[in-house]
Amino acid sequence: MESSDEPAPPSRNRGLSLRPEDRERLGSALEAARRLGASEAPIPLEEAADAIILGDAFAALTRLPPASADLLVADPPYNMDKDFGAARGRRMAEGEYEEYTRSWLDAALPLLKADASVYVCCDWRCSSAVQRVLSGSLVVRNRITWEREKGRASARNWKNSHEDIWFATVSEDYRFDGDAVRQRRRVRAPYRDGDGRPKDWGEGPDGRYRDTAASNLWTDLTVPFWSMSENTSHPTQKPEKLAAKLILASSRPGDLVLDPFLGSGTTAVAARKLGRRFVGIEIDAEHCLAALRRLELAEEEPRIQGYEEGLFWERNSGPRRR
Ligand SMILES: C[S@@+](CC[C@H](N)C(=O)[O-])C[C@H]1O[C@@H](n2cnc3c(N)ncnc32)[C@H](O)[C@@H]1O
Repeated sequence: MESSDEPAPPSRNRGLSLRPEDRERLGSALEAARRLGASEAPIPLEEAADAIILGDAFAALTRLPPASADLLVADPPYNMDKDFGAARGRRMAEGEYEEYTRSWLDAALPLLKADASVYVCCDWRCSSAVQRVLSGSLVVRNRITWEREKGRASARNWKNSHEDIWFATVSEDYRFDGDAVRQRRRVRAPYRDGDGRPKDWGEGPDGRYRDTAASNLWTDLTVPFWSMSENTSHPTQKPEKLAAKLILASSRPGDLVLDPFLGSGTTAVAARKLGRRFVGIEIDAEHCLAALRRLELAEEEPRIQGYEEGLFWERNSGPRRR
């Protein structure tokens, strides 16, 4: 098995760093994003599709075309003190965080199509507030829990090493493609039927495997390590593999994916790599620049680490390079 997402020695630090020439080349794209964010005019769909908007989500969402998005992927600031550059997350009382969540969701809802799906990321502390808000205006369908495989140890509490993603839909009419998000798992106890035939597993050059239905417990992810080319300096960057699962399960090629808290661009990059359109809003120029650079790099490297041959692979596994 070739390792695909394990940490590498320092000499293999592959994280994104913006060179002066990158900043210069991307300057006009950043200006276009800034102009989109600064204007007060409605943004037509042709302009919104595949656009990054540098500005405040609360203002920008009101200017995007109604009933245009097929999928909303939101990774808002969690209820904690966190410096995002232009935005600063702060720890609020639970009710205040709930109000904050309701206010951005209310601004986003008119942009969703009647058959759209919604995913909202959160941690244990704000998960219940997010659930309450979503259930007020959407059909809540599931809660995904994913193991971050990295967390700060605590002397007086359990180390926090998982996060949640709530899944909701606008109506009963929604798309869910479970086959698009199957996970290839190594088979450790290969069972054979009475005739000696493998029961629900196969054998390939990478060993014995089973392609299992994706559950709501994800253990195949890691936060983007510095050894992964998708890594940026964003303090709470999500893995492309995570965004890919949401996009593949809940959208079709060509669909429009909306992310009002784009950060370093993970949703946009995964959408581009998977043939979807996106519109992303981010308030910090440096994060926008990272997103623009990652979109450039996506043209050179269209693969998503941990997703190959139409399957999601367990952590630190993947098909042998042939
Ligand atoms: C949790 S991070 C998203 C990280 C992102 N998923 C990624 O993979 O890089 C939240 C982002 O929302 C941005 N943000 C916070 N408030 C905002 C607002 N009102 N409008 C637009 N962006 C905002 C922050 O700058 C931060 O980058």
